[in-house]
Amino acid sequence: MSLTSIPKPRSTYKAGRSNNFEMNSWLFMRGSGLLLVVLVIGHLFVNLWQGDGIQQIDFAFVAGKWASPFWQIWDLAMLWLAMLHGMNGLRTIINDYASRGGTKFTLKTLLYFATFVTVVLGTLVIFTFDPCIDPASTLEVCTNR
Ligand code: HEM
Repeated sequence: MSLTSIPKPRSTYKAGRSNNFEMNSWLFMRGSGLLLVVLVIGHLFVNLWQGDGIQQIDFAFVAGKWASPFWQIWDLAMLWLAMLHGMNGLRTIINDYASRGGTKFTLKTLLYFATFVTVVLGTLVIFTFDPCIDPASTLEVCTNR
């Protein structure tokens, strides 16, 4: 955008669709950033601070957490918010730095594709995770069946 396209001072504000979209996406960055602080600190606290810290993290630990819908939703929220926040941030950076239309289009297509694949696969992993996938599993939940 060239400088000459900036409206003259005092010209009436025209809210177009794109203005509202950029305003909402800026608000989303603030809101999701705030939520991510809570989600990420909670995640680090439970995984690394409580109990045996990093020593406790193994397959059984993950199985134990994902047996609870609370942690499934927590991790889902972290995945979706971090991905959408990161995607929207990169969209802004592409808009700011890629000047050719073709470059913008290619980078954004790659960005949206990568986001889509990661969100879909991550969501599937959270909800289809099977703690007894190994027939020789010694986890209590599997041996008591
Ligand atoms: C603790 C969590 C986080 C907080 C509090 C946070 C906060 C923010 C805020 C407020 C902005 C908007 C800046 C502005 O336009 O004025 C922003 C931009 C951005 N964030 Fe985050 N963020 C967090 C996590 C993440 C994560 C996990 C990613 C990557 C997956 C990420 C990637 C980005 C990118 C690429 C931008 C755009 C930077 C730009 O416009 O130059 N952030 N962040």
